[in-house]
Amino acid sequence: MKYRVNFFVNDEPVELYVDANKTMLRVLREELALTGTKEGCGAGECGACTVIVDGKPINACLVLAPELDGKHITTVEGLAKNGELTAVQQAFVDLAALQCGFCTPGFIMSATALLNENPDPSREEIIDAISGNLCRCTGYARIIEAIELAARKGGGQA
Ligand code: FES
Ligand code: FES
Repeated sequence: MKYRVNFFVNDEPVELYVDANKTMLRVLREELALTGTKEGCGAGECGACTVIVDGKPINACLVLAPELDGKHITTVEGLAKNGELTAVQQAFVDLAALQCGFCTPGFIMSATALLNENPDPSREEIIDAISGNLCRCTGYARIIEAIELAARKGGGQA
């Protein structure tokens, strides 16, 4: 059965008819071609699919399409404006806080949500905010340092 859902992605209004058992992750990737949001585990364990929904970071693989209705969603594609990276994105680049990059959109969304709520987090608060995000390659030290740098440079946005 198809549901009609109306929501916003990256400030653009969207209306779709979707299967009720389709996840938000699949809607973003398959219906809207927003493939920056990654599927790792598909089970809420890795954080690769993290997006910001109404200001909070959530795992898009755990949300079913009918729950999209009325939501405001920000994906990694919605961060940079006019080609200018956000402080979080730039800090990941500047500190080389990634290797394969598969986990990176999820970390960036978790960090962005954190800095929007708490522009000057402690190291412990950063570690807590990214506790649902897994990285197999980079190691967490650089990722944490990048989020600290982003906080010093002006925070989250979007
Ligand atoms: S793909 Fe959603 S948490 Fe891993
Ligand atoms: S950079 Fe490869 S999984 Fe994190």
